[in-house]
Amino acid sequence: MNRPPIPTTIQNPKSKIQNTSTALKEAEQYLVGGVNSPVRAFRRIGCAPLMLVKGRGATVIDSTGRRYLDFIGGWGALILGHRHPTVLSALRRALTQDIMTGLTHPDEIALARLLTEAVPSVEQVRFTVSGTEACMTAMKLARAYTKRAKILMFDGCYHGHAPAGDVITAPFNDAAAAQDAIRRAADELACVMVEPVAANMGVVAPGPDFLSSLREVTSRCGVLLLFDEVVTGFRLGAAGAQGRFGIQPDLTTFGKIIGGGLPIGAVGGPARIMQRFAPEGDVYHGGTFAGHPLSMTAGIASLKILEEHPPYEHMERLTQQLAEGLVQAGRDAEVPVQVNAVGSMLTLFFSASPVTNAAQAQACDRDWFGRWARALLEVGILVPPSPFEALFLSSAHTEEHVSRVLDAARRALLTVRS
Ligand SMILES: Cc1ncc(COP(=O)(O)O)c(C=O)c1O
Repeated sequence: MNRPPIPTTIQNPKSKIQNTSTALKEAEQYLVGGVNSPVRAFRRIGCAPLMLVKGRGATVIDSTGRRYLDFIGGWGALILGHRHPTVLSALRRALTQDIMTGLTHPDEIALARLLTEAVPSVEQVRFTVSGTEACMTAMKLARAYTKRAKILMFDGCYHGHAPAGDVITAPFNDAAAAQDAIRRAADELACVMVEPVAANMGVVAPGPDFLSSLREVTSRCGVLLLFDEVVTGFRLGAAGAQGRFGIQPDLTTFGKIIGGGLPIGAVGGPARIMQRFAPEGDVYHGGTFAGHPLSMTAGIASLKILEEHPPYEHMERLTQQLAEGLVQAGRDAEVPVQVNAVGSMLTLFFSASPVTNAAQAQACDRDWFGRWARALLEVGILVPPSPFEALFLSSAHTEEHVSRVLDAARRALLTVRS
């Protein structure tokens, strides 16, 4: 087949040639919908997708050479910003040794140890290649351990794209409904799986007694409690959401941050459950790339930086400033907004009333969100192109960045009614 040449704007990030439409056409020719992950198509905000080719700190550059202040942050993976120099050096050193070996690498042990030291509920770890794989593997483990089939999940929580059968659902943040559903299905229920802070209906914090009531009823009914900390692990502090809220789950899934920007996922828990994985037990899980040495290297470098120079206070202070500024900007523009912020994650919802579950998130004004996000993009601020995603701050964001976003957001909010 005769392939047209790759557009020069993709080959050369410094190029100022506006050749995006050629690149997009070609993307759609060779990739389904032009993407490998649907949200990247920008269809939820009704504009052409960006192709990013370079990043440093909190800044990214697209294929036409335009700069953006980035709040996607690799969908939460890049807590240290893009291309942190220490992570880069570690990767360079690792590359002088090998790319992969296919057998156990010492760095797998080192990263697993860092996880167990940071997260008290985790004694042993099994690494996977993605958060999706971690979640489906954890479900398989829970089913084998309890010898039950059903899983209870919460509307609006996302645990990766693997289809899971035998799932029952309950609304997020409704402790009474969840308790009722768990009690009724207890004999058949392997686990209750939850994002302890929801990040995939936009950011939604758990109400004061929601997680503790899940812990209480699952313990009483002999059902496992599985926290999906793919987003919150090492973002809400070293011990993740479970450390922040003081709740110990039976199993935890990780991803994103623990790979320092390289593909990763992990299941963690106490040895008595984890030992059910082969070769010790009967739950088969394996993978050519499981525990890939480069992901381990980048993960170790990142977790060590987070341990030695914790950026959490800095990020949370900036996120609070951003949240308060956005609420004020909504008032000034007379546009009803709700800003949900937890740790260094934030979502702006166009709604007159609080957003505490998926139904309320779905009811927000999506056209206004689209106009707001497009207006920000036009002035070089990259927020997630969907009303159901979180803005992520990194240690590379500064007060000056927050001021810039707030200036832009104030102007953008004035345009949403038009
Ligand atoms: C809470 C949660 N769990 C699981 C996943 C799936 O992770 P991955 O995209 O690495 O497969 C995601 C992805 O965003 C997520 O947010």
